[in-house]
Amino acid sequence: MVGRNTKLKVAVLMGGVSSERDVSLSSGKQILDALDRSKYDVFGVDVGTTSNRSAVSLPGAEQEVEAVVAARESVLNTHKLLPLDCLLDSRFRPDVAVIALHGRYGEDGTIQGLLELFDIPYTGSGVLASALAMDKVMAKKVMAADGIPVPRSVDFTCHDSGWDRGWVACRAARLGYPVIVKPSRQGSTIGMTKVVDPGVLEEAIEKARKYDNRILVEEFLEGIELTVSVLGNDAPIALPVIEIVPAKGFYDYEAKYTPGATEEIVPARIPPEITSEAQRLAIAAHTSLGCSGMSRTDIVYVHGCRENVSESHHHHELYVLEVNTIPGMTPTSLLPRAAEAAGISFSRLLDMLIEFALEGGRR
Ligand SMILES: Nc1ncnc2c1ncn2[C@@H]1O[C@H](COP(=O)(O)OP(=O)(O)OP(=O)(O)O)[C@@H](O)[C@H]1O
Ligand SMILES: [Mg+2]
Repeated sequence: MVGRNTKLKVAVLMGGVSSERDVSLSSGKQILDALDRSKYDVFGVDVGTTSNRSAVSLPGAEQEVEAVVAARESVLNTHKLLPLDCLLDSRFRPDVAVIALHGRYGEDGTIQGLLELFDIPYTGSGVLASALAMDKVMAKKVMAADGIPVPRSVDFTCHDSGWDRGWVACRAARLGYPVIVKPSRQGSTIGMTKVVDPGVLEEAIEKARKYDNRILVEEFLEGIELTVSVLGNDAPIALPVIEIVPAKGFYDYEAKYTPGATEEIVPARIPPEITSEAQRLAIAAHTSLGCSGMSRTDIVYVHGCRENVSESHHHHELYVLEVNTIPGMTPTSLLPRAAEAAGISFSRLLDMLIEFALEGGRR
C-alpha cells in the first residue's frame, strides 16, 4: 500500500557557517528541487541558524560569484528553511538527513557527530572519514601511509605569535618553486595561492591563515587535472573520469562556480590505462580514509618529463590532491556530471545516496 505515511521524511541540511555557506545553499537548492516528491516528504534546514540566532558565517571567498549569490537569494526566497534545533522537535524529526554542507562544521565530522547523537541516519561519510578528508594535512599522511602518491609538502601551525619563518622558507625552497600554499581545512580554493616568487611566500601564508592556522605548502604539479567520483559503501565503484580545463588556467572559486568558466570534459582525454589507474586511485583514497556513500578525488596527471624532482622522490604519473566527502551539488558541479555520464540522473543519484545512508549496520 502506498499512502502518504510511507513516504520517507528527508531533511536537507544546508547553509551552515562555513566559508562555503553560499555554495552549500546552492547545492541544497538543487537537491531540494530534485528529490522525488512521490517518495519523500522534504524540508530544508539551515544549519547556520537556530531558533534564537540567525546565520553568522566564517570569512567567505574574497570575491562573490554571481551564480552563487543568485542561488542563495533564490533559495532563501522560495524555500522556508527551518533552524537547526528543529531536528530535536518530534514534529520534524527526519528519517534521513541529506547533508548538502561544505567546509567546516558541515563536511568535517561535526554535524555527523551531532546526527549520531540524535540517531538520525545521514548521507555520506561518518565522523572520522569526514574529519580526516577535511584536513588536507592529516589526509595526506594517511593516504601516503597507504601507498597513495600525493604531492610533496610541508605543514606547520601559525600561532598567534607567528610561525617559524626561517624554517618554512627553507623547506619551501627545498620543495622547489612554484609552490601552492593552502589552509589545511578549507575548500573551493578559498585562501589558496600559487607562489612563483619566494618573496611573496609570507603574504600567501598570511592569506591562508585567515581561514585556518594549520598551513600546507605543497609542490606545484604541472599537468592535466582530473576528478574521479566514487559511489558506494562496502563495494565502492568509480564513475567516469572528468578532465577539468579552467579557461583562465587556475581552478579557483570563480572558475568553479561561474557557468562556462571551466570546461569539464567527460570522459577525460587520457589513455585508457591512465583512466583505469585514476579510478583505482580514487577508490583507494576513498577506502584509505574510510569514506562511505560518496566521495570525489582530485588528481593531477603529470605526463612527460618533470623538472625539479628530487632524487628521493619516486616518479609517478598520478598524484592525489585531496578527497572531498561532500562534493558540490550546484548546477556546475562535477559529481552530478560524472553520474550523468554514467547514466545516473540527478534524482536517481539522490535516491542512491539515501539508500547508502539507510544501509543496515553501516556505522
Ligand atoms: N599541488 C598542486 N599542484 C597543482 N595544482 C594544484 C595543487 N594543489 C591545488 N591545485 C589547484 O588548486 C585547486 C584546488 O585545490 P584543492 O583541490 O586541493 O583545494 P580545495 O579548495 O579543497 O578544493 P575543492 O573545491 O575541490 O574542495 C585544484 O583543483 C588545482 O587546480
Ligand atoms: Mg579540490
